[in-house]
Amino acid sequence: MSDERGTVPDDMLDKLVDKLDLERKVRLLTGATTWRTAADATIGLREIVCSDGPAGIRGETWDERRTSCLLPSASALGATWDDRLLRQLGGLLAAEALRKGVDVVLAPTLNLHRTPLGGRHFECFSEDPELTARTGAALIRGLQEHGVAATAKHFVANDSETDRLRVDVRLSERALREVYLAPFEAAVEAGVWAVMAGYNGVDGTTMTAHPLLAEPLKGEWGFDGLAVSDWAAVRTTDEPARAALDLAMPGPASPWAADLAQAVRDGRVPESAVDEKVRRLLRLAARVGALGDAPRHRPPLPGEGARRLLRRAVAAGSVLLRNDGVLPLDPTHLGTLAVIGAHAASPRVQGGGSAGVFPSAVVTPLAGVRACLRGRGRVTYTAGPSPDGPPEPLDTGRCTDPRSGEPGVLLRCLDAEGNELSAERRLSGRLLEPDLAPGTRTVEVRALLRPETTGSWTFGVGGFGRLTIEVDGEVILDGDHPCETDDPAIVHVTPPVHTARAHVERGRHAHLVARRELVPGSGRATIVAAAPPRPDRDKALAEAVAAAREADAVIVVVGTTEHDETEGHDRTHLSLGDAQNDLVRAVAAANPRTVAVVNSGGPVELPWRDEAAAVLLAWFPGQEAGAGLADVLFGRSEPGGRLPTTWAAALADAPVTRTRPVDGRLDYEEGLHIGHRAWLRAGTEPAFWFGHGLGYTTWRYEGVDAPDHVGADAAFTVRVAVRNTGTRAGREVVQVYLARPDSAVERPVRWYAGHAAVHAEPGEEAVAEVLVAPRALRHWSPQDGGWRVEPGTYRLLVGRSAGAVEHEAAVAVGTEPGEGNA
Ligand code: BGC
Repeated sequence: MSDERGTVPDDMLDKLVDKLDLERKVRLLTGATTWRTAADATIGLREIVCSDGPAGIRGETWDERRTSCLLPSASALGATWDDRLLRQLGGLLAAEALRKGVDVVLAPTLNLHRTPLGGRHFECFSEDPELTARTGAALIRGLQEHGVAATAKHFVANDSETDRLRVDVRLSERALREVYLAPFEAAVEAGVWAVMAGYNGVDGTTMTAHPLLAEPLKGEWGFDGLAVSDWAAVRTTDEPARAALDLAMPGPASPWAADLAQAVRDGRVPESAVDEKVRRLLRLAARVGALGDAPRHRPPLPGEGARRLLRRAVAAGSVLLRNDGVLPLDPTHLGTLAVIGAHAASPRVQGGGSAGVFPSAVVTPLAGVRACLRGRGRVTYTAGPSPDGPPEPLDTGRCTDPRSGEPGVLLRCLDAEGNELSAERRLSGRLLEPDLAPGTRTVEVRALLRPETTGSWTFGVGGFGRLTIEVDGEVILDGDHPCETDDPAIVHVTPPVHTARAHVERGRHAHLVARRELVPGSGRATIVAAAPPRPDRDKALAEAVAAAREADAVIVVVGTTEHDETEGHDRTHLSLGDAQNDLVRAVAAANPRTVAVVNSGGPVELPWRDEAAAVLLAWFPGQEAGAGLADVLFGRSEPGGRLPTTWAAALADAPVTRTRPVDGRLDYEEGLHIGHRAWLRAGTEPAFWFGHGLGYTTWRYEGVDAPDHVGADAAFTVRVAVRNTGTRAGREVVQVYLARPDSAVERPVRWYAGHAAVHAEPGEEAVAEVLVAPRALRHWSPQDGGWRVEPGTYRLLVGRSAGAVEHEAAVAVGTEPGEGNA
């Protein structure tokens, strides 16, 4: 039915639509399940399977036994400034999708780092629309060239989490077009097959019913794919149906399932609108091989192997903020290396929320460093003071199932009288979609915990409804916690965890029983967690200092906790907490060769940044965290990353921080000026600029060659000669910014226009060819309702970050369409 590339001619799609009566058509427009669309055998349509990304492909179930490859977080990918690598990672996601029977990946997230407080900051690439556009487009191409659909989300202006289901974002037409829509426009240019409409509203209309779905998305940009709702974002029948939304997810219940056929019969929604939605659904089905007898595409396994690619990606995204020469460490000349910090042994490898997957194994920083120094140097480990954070879910390392004696926990489903209906061993206390036997009223988790310390442990149970915890037969928590939110991410993924304490003894098993009574409408996610007593802070600090003193060099790893960076909440601060800040300070004072590694998905304050000999951002690095980190620390790879987002020294300095709506409205009053543009406008200095990041060699910028004159709609190339003046081969990311000081229209002080990376050996010169796309010169004219290019002279600023300009040139842009030099 379809040709090799899954393209089905429109007249064939029309014929298929004609075969369906109204009921059958409407059936296709709501999910059949949480992750599947409906099938219709009469037209050869099978179910289309969706799964969340973007950091990995979870598949249809949240189950720790069905593991996934875990990529670095999107913020780390944004830091690579490497489209080729993004395309390869897209290929890996496609391979994972195909392995798990997934047709549509709900990624990439193309919202922007508008403020450092955004709860899903880690899930977005950058503060910059153009860098986001390029990164996202590369990932989309990498996925779709293997027949797996990407979904550009969340369309549009869904850049923070507070009141995320209802917030009404107000922004100027220019900010909308030039900043927030720009990455989606690039996604459509890259041929994306699906776009997800967000929960939020823009200018008073919720996105699933918004005219922007028609114009510019489907009309002006020519998007011919499927517009799918965010999960449960369709709240009424008529408006989204009349607007250009195509598919309501999830199902089987939705306002469309209940009422759309009747709305058509009543004349509230034209049948032609339904036909168009079905046509688009069928087009997507054809593309992913779900229509007719198209064979499934074969998984394209990454040539170098998934783990090697992921390890390379960790190094490629790591950003070296400063280095007084301590890095790279020479593994052959280290007697003792002290690894310090709780995150070194228990890193955060991903952010919280719907993006989460269960990786099969994680290489911790400690394990990565140990593997590299095995047989060469001694590695000591000291945890230091505990970061403030919630207790961790139970796992196989600490618990056994009391029934089988095997590692893990026992999950039981109980009826109203407490009789067991089913039981199974699970490997984690994070049970987000437990299988419920019919008639289940209570989910129970039992575990034998082997405490590694004596004292007052914290036990936690997460979920809604009546929650209880017993330790060795004593009830320590019993309370009712009604569900007061309709945010699916909180109900089904990160329900609040309630805690209580009990005394347990090292070496003596503690019998833990946690129960959650199920209440209709409040989900079934159940989390059972435990944490040892916090060690005495001063003592832990003193131990860390002693370890640092005895070592030849120190790696101290600090980071955010599970509470800090997660979907459904914005952050309220950027602090790592006193315990961790004191730790870095004390260790750096004790050993001048201290490398601080920061494990966070988004910006944090680094008040000690000038005290440590080197500061390296690892982001949320995914499963190969420690392997990639060790490559960087010991110089097997250069830290390839450059900041995709400007980092403030302190939250109070950050120019754009408001995420809290007032009377339901969130005004993007900063307009075009987010990220580095905002800092430049304010004339203030951040701690680290967008684009900043060091490698292991040094560079001299020798000259810039740019055309003097280009036509109004022409791409042009800026050639920048750079020389490697250091003693190691390296990669330099040469960046071009534009400025238009005497413009007749409002402009950013300067704005990112493009970059190119070059490699050179010591002493060698390389020429970076930076392509500036015509869109870098255009601005949206609200008066004309179109794009315009202001003729005249633009400054070209070439440098290593938005704040470090090495060379300047000028280009005159004509009034006529004409040639560039590209
Ligand atoms: C999130 C989406 C996600 C969907 C399905 C929503 O709450 O906003 O990004 O794809 O859930 O998990």
